[in-house]
Order: sequence, then C-alpha cells, then structure tokens
Amino acid sequence: MAVDGNEPETLEYKLVPHRDFNLISGIHCPEEVDEIQNWEIRDSDIFIITYPKSGTIWMQQIMSLIEAKGDVTATKDQMNCVGMPWIELAGSKKDFVSAPSPRIRVSHLQYKFIPLGLKQKMGKVIYVARNPKDVLVSYYHFHKYASMLETPEDFDSFFEKFLEGKVYGNCWFDHIKAWYSEGDSMNFLYITYEDMIQDLRSAVDQICAFLDRDLTAQQKESVVEHSTFENMRKNPKANYQAVSSSLLDHNKGAFMRKGTIGDWKNYFSVAQNERFDRVFKEKMKDPSLTFVWDIA
Ligand code: A3P
Repeated sequence: MAVDGNEPETLEYKLVPHRDFNLISGIHCPEEVDEIQNWEIRDSDIFIITYPKSGTIWMQQIMSLIEAKGDVTATKDQMNCVGMPWIELAGSKKDFVSAPSPRIRVSHLQYKFIPLGLKQKMGKVIYVARNPKDVLVSYYHFHKYASMLETPEDFDSFFEKFLEGKVYGNCWFDHIKAWYSEGDSMNFLYITYEDMIQDLRSAVDQICAFLDRDLTAQQKESVVEHSTFENMRKNPKANYQAVSSSLLDHNKGAFMRKGTIGDWKNYFSVAQNERFDRVFKEKMKDPSLTFVWDIA
C-alpha cells in the first residue's frame, strides 16, 4: 500500500472513485495520479507493479538486495518503502524527478494510469501476480490491520467486496488483464508469487537477466537468503513494522503475515470456491490469457 513511514498521525481515509479506480483520500490525490502519465521516464527506471497483497514488499526486498549485490549491510540505512516508494502517493513526483538513477518505484495502479514513456519501451516493468484466492485472503487480513482501509465485518462480506472490486486496486481480473495483455508494448517481466515461493533462486536469476544485473552466484545466494519470509520478518528495513500506526495498527496484524501458497483453502467455503472458479473462468476466458494456478 501507499506508505513511506512518514505519515501524519491523524487523517481520515476513505475510498474515492477516480476514473473508475478507487483512490484513498488522505494518501492519494486524483490530479497528481493523472499527472503520472506525463512523468519523464529514463531507460534505467524500474517499476514494480502489483495488485495489492501479491508480493510487493517481497519484490522491494529482492530489488534492494540485487542493487546492493546481495550485501544486506548496504541495505540497512533506509526502509524499502522509502527507497522504493509508491508513485501514486501524493507528493511523490518531486522526489521522482530529482532522484538519481536507477529509480525504482512501486505501484498498484491500473495500466491506464502509467507513464507513457513505459509504453515506448523506456524503463522496465516487473509485474508480480499471485493466485487471486490467496490475494483475497491476504487482503482480508490486511483490511483488519490497515487503518486506512475499512475493517471488514467478516470474511464472507469481504469475499463479496473483493469480487465486486470495491477495494483499493479495484477488480483483480481487470488489473492483471490490462497489464498482462499490454506487456509487449513495454520492457516487461511477468513473474508470480508462486514462482518465487517454489524457486526463489531461479526468480532472482530471471530478474537479474531482465535488468542486466551481473551478480555472482554467491551474491545471488545472498539475495535469496535475505529475502526469505523469516529473514524479512526480522528485518526492520523490510518488514514495515516501523510504519506509523495511523496507517497500520501493529496490534492487529503484520505485513509479513503467513507467506504461503494455498491459505485460501482455510477460508473459502465449497460454495465460495465454486463461485470464484466460475467468475475466474468467465473473466479470464480470452485464450491469450494463460494464468496457471490451482484453479480448475
Ligand atoms: P500473506 O498475507 O498471505 O502472508 P504485498 O507486499 O503485496 O502487500 O503482499 C503481502 C503478502 O506477501 C503477505 O502475504 C506477505 O506475508 C507476503 N510476503 C512478503 N514477503 C514474503 C516473503 N519473503 N516470502 C513469502 N511471502 C512474503
């Protein structure tokens, strides 16, 4: 989510629709979000794009370690959310313009809002996707933890809200479909949370190759070691525990919650699972969209 560890203590947050996309008042400014399209892009820019709860902060940690050639001591000075902020945060442009290269930024925005330069093959985009069923469960918990999001009444009501896209990030299906189908117009790497869980070392190889980063095998092993769930959970620069309680109520949860595949099985009823599968098939029926999860 849009956080930088420096937020004011009291703000009222609510979802505000803007061009069919929900922004969060007090964090995002619609005019500034519209301006993002015109941001000047450098070839060295890297954008990490995700639907919320798909592995954003994990990719931030991997990227910070790749840039430090695996040296975790070099990443100790600043929180990942400060070094790699969300572009949709109000006031983010100033720093973007003046920051030295390579600028690494993250975003949950839909494709239609992104800098036009990316569509002219300037800069690079890494899209991290995750099984939407696990996204839903993770997001449900995040809504209880995040002070800027409405606390769900219960899992069933959140399930409906997610399917209707009445959350920040809107409809999961629309988000991934637009980014994925426009991938060829950008320098684009599509990678899944599940790929990263199953073989993080291969994912690091893939990311380094995509970004032309030359790391030794030992440096890559170090990236992997310091990006594991357990090590990130202990690392204050990576775990978001220092984010202001005006945004995250640390008594009610943690960004680093469970970090597993298939947690949805502990939450979905049989009927919810069948319904989700039906919606998935309907929304993703375009044959050019091939998404592989354990969805029948
Ligand atoms: P869970 O809530 O399922 O545990 P985002 O950063 O996009 O908000 O995504 C958060 C999700 O990514 C959380 O999922 C969090 O635990 C998981 N995550 C973060 N770092 C991870 C890691 N190193 N390994 C596995 N999962 C990780």
